Amino acid sequence: MTQIAQPTGKLGVLIPGLGAVGTTFIAGVLNIRRGLAAPIGSLTQMGTIRLGKRTEGRSPLIRDFVPLAGLDDLVFGAWDIFEDNAYEAAKSAAVLGDEHLDGVREELEAIRPMKAVFSHEYVKRLDGPHVKSGANKMELAEQLRQDIRDFKAANGVERMVMIWCGSTEIYLQRAEAHATVEAFEEGLRNNSPDIAPSMIYAYAALMEGVPYVNGAPNLSVDIPALISLANERNVPIAGKDYKTGQTLMKTILAPGLKARLLGLNGWFSTNILGNRDGEVLDDPASFRTKEESKLGVLDYILQPHLYPELYGGFYHKVRINYYPPRGDNKEGWDNIDIFGWLGYPMQIKVDFLCRDSILAAPIVLDLALFMDLAQRAGMRGIQEWLSFYFKSPMTAPELYPEHDLFIQLTKLKNNLRHLMGEELITHLGVEYYE
Ligand SMILES: NC(=O)c1ccc[n+]([C@@H]2O[C@H](COP(=O)([O-])OP(=O)(O)OC[C@H]3O[C@@H](n4cnc5c(N)ncnc54)[C@H](O)[C@@H]3O)[C@@H](O)[C@H]2O)c1
Repeated sequence: MTQIAQPTGKLGVLIPGLGAVGTTFIAGVLNIRRGLAAPIGSLTQMGTIRLGKRTEGRSPLIRDFVPLAGLDDLVFGAWDIFEDNAYEAAKSAAVLGDEHLDGVREELEAIRPMKAVFSHEYVKRLDGPHVKSGANKMELAEQLRQDIRDFKAANGVERMVMIWCGSTEIYLQRAEAHATVEAFEEGLRNNSPDIAPSMIYAYAALMEGVPYVNGAPNLSVDIPALISLANERNVPIAGKDYKTGQTLMKTILAPGLKARLLGLNGWFSTNILGNRDGEVLDDPASFRTKEESKLGVLDYILQPHLYPELYGGFYHKVRINYYPPRGDNKEGWDNIDIFGWLGYPMQIKVDFLCRDSILAAPIVLDLALFMDLAQRAGMRGIQEWLSFYFKSPMTAPELYPEHDLFIQLTKLKNNLRHLMGEELITHLGVEYYE
């Protein structure tokens, strides 16, 4: 069994980006801890874990099995390019109704974002007044580090996690400034254009020993320099891009098709959404980042190189269309052209009327609690066991990511069993028939 420090004291949850996802998460937790709502969708709050044999009847709640911080111990902090407090930001995101905002209004109003590290260069559809200035990117990183220390002192928190809920930045490829910690720090001092704001937050978090989660598809912490820094400093990191909506459905359906060896000719996915995220993604450079994150999923699940007759050369297209009347209530259509026995074609149509931030909020909660657990258990670097929550999971360089939701869940739960010294569950089952 791994030595795990107990979750004593308060846990600070630091959120760059107080928008739809960030405020839906915070307001949700405030409602839940007052007993006004249920934490639906959260594995840490509602999930159970089977231990031992099926005949033993041991299935505790995950939160009773592993030592997680309690919801009452969470304290929230944020950065944003707008000055709106969490109540105002939640009102303008218009995800939650007044029935979930009025009762916690004072607590939300008390959460005022710190000035952001931001540059319009990296999010072309966005600009705002509440932004830090400094001689170079290293100075901006120093200011973020000071914010983290000030937050800790002002709120008396014992530990912190940082979880990116900011906008999707433009598509960046790995560059020289991302190669090593030294090159990255040099790049901060020289204002390298290859260093995006989300990387500066990640750097600041790691330097302060704070676990960092990347909820957007931006490279952010997924560069060799910051992965090395996380390992050197014994800090856990995870990403990228919360798995919600259409991609969630894809990673539920595709493993089923593959399990039954049904072929695929094409998968066309289109979305309409009208929130600020949709507006940002209307810019081709930000969409490119998202597209990369959404497209990989099917290839990895279907493995065309192993099943060329079934999955060689299927057509995959993903579209996101900004359509303001819908707000956060996205509609995602999928048209899936499959084929079966003797090659006869069939079609599946999915029309998912979803609420993006309602799907994302429990993920933010689980990641905050599990990353804090990981740190207390001495785990560092990439936390692949949290792939369950991401569209584009980070892995060691020599590995391909696991996208199948059910394998991801087995992986997550086996990691918890392993942490607690319980037997892993292989689903072999012969022992019941001996
Ligand atoms: N289901 C989902 O909603 C979902 C799923 C996967 C990923 N994501 C990602 O999560 C992120 C947040 O989504 P959202 O719907 O809340 O978007 P949003 O536009 O409502 O919120 C983003 C907030 O981040 C702020 N911001 C942008 N750059 C910043 C910076 N450098 N520092 C501080 N604040 C900054 C913006 O002002 C805005 O308030 C996006 O990148 C989105 O792609 C969302």
